[in-house]
Amino acid sequence: MTSIDPLETIKVAVLQRLEGHFGLDVSPWMGVVPRILHRLTRSGDFPKHPSPTEADELTHRVFEELLLGHTRFYRHPRSWDWLRQSWKPDGDRPIRAAVLGCSSGEEVYSVLALMAEMDRLGNATCLGVDANRRSLDQARAARYEADNVGNAPEPWRLRAFFSAPGSTVQVKEEIRSRARFETMNLARSFPQGTFDLLVLRNVLIYLSRGVIEGILERCRQHGEGGLLVVAPQEAFMLSGAGWANQVEPGLPVYRIGPVREDLESGWKVDEGKSTVARRLQPTVQPEATAETTEEATVEALSSTSSIAAAGPRLVSGDSQWEEVHGALRKALQSPPESLILDLSKVRQTDYDVKKALGACLGLLAASGCQVSVIATGEGLFPLSPDVTRLLPQSGRE
Ligand SMILES: C[S@@+](CC[C@H](N)C(=O)[O-])C[C@H]1O[C@@H](n2cnc3c(N)ncnc32)[C@H](O)[C@@H]1O
Repeated sequence: MTSIDPLETIKVAVLQRLEGHFGLDVSPWMGVVPRILHRLTRSGDFPKHPSPTEADELTHRVFEELLLGHTRFYRHPRSWDWLRQSWKPDGDRPIRAAVLGCSSGEEVYSVLALMAEMDRLGNATCLGVDANRRSLDQARAARYEADNVGNAPEPWRLRAFFSAPGSTVQVKEEIRSRARFETMNLARSFPQGTFDLLVLRNVLIYLSRGVIEGILERCRQHGEGGLLVVAPQEAFMLSGAGWANQVEPGLPVYRIGPVREDLESGWKVDEGKSTVARRLQPTVQPEATAETTEEATVEALSSTSSIAAAGPRLVSGDSQWEEVHGALRKALQSPPESLILDLSKVRQTDYDVKKALGACLGLLAASGCQVSVIATGEGLFPLSPDVTRLLPQSGRE
């Protein structure tokens, strides 16, 4: 007899919407989404049989819980240092900047602090957009933990830009008044107008390939002649999409060239190639099949039950996350059938690199590569959920 678990049905619908509507690459999240759904429906926030409107809201809530939007002032300092020293926007005309995926706003205020240092704040504006409504509330409030400002250059901290320094800091009104925030789903829309500076960091890593291409093309259309800044671990995506004009070798800051007529523009959320469709469609099935499919998903994502027999083996020493990340990025250009990542010697951790590493592992797994991770724990934890999911059970606690 066929029995359909309502949560299973919601799971498929939510995953499909995360992919089709928000453009997320859901492959790293397959295991986490059911747990979030379970909590949200058990807490009574949502019914087990949501109406279409409730299902949309539920998807948005899951999106917000998945992408917690870790950020801070002056994150990835090398790019900011370059902007501070070398960026000279033309003339006296107003400067327009936008931060795409701004989370709680630290990058927006970093951009404006930079304008203030250049004495260009008076006619500058910075728009921050994000699909996470809760993060945007925090961005508008402009109050942050003092630790979050730690990366920023000393003059920013000491003088001009924050009032009431203590355990929290408040961005000063003269800076705050030049910022504007909008809820926006970048897989579906893009800010109006043209921009001198576009900051798009640690967002592409979450999105599917067609959506990344669409967003990058919009960056060209809306930022021609200006600059685009991405995160260091995203530079390989730009080179894959034909972006070559970095302001300095190795720095993920790009001069935005003219719009390419030969490229199709627009967002390509290709339902036909949907990861969810491929992985989960058979789950609304007789009970036994549903279980088998779930196992298959875990297997495809992690191969945790057995170490892949062949394929390259990457061994990381302590503090070698950056090197491992670089090697994984290379592997992404032509994914092997299987890959072993030996992290057993790693004792130290760095949040950003771990996150990037998790994204790479997710992308590799999504491309069909059997990824096996060897880890003993200790210095590795807490790992990002993406990496944790790839570990054998014994390595998790
Ligand atoms: C890790 S945070 C990065 C924040 C900041 N850019 C930084 O690098 O510090 C990723 C942000 O991208 C946002 N995001 C992801 N997909 C999005 C989409 N389709 N539309 C708008 N924002 C999105 C998330 O909500 C999250 O706030």
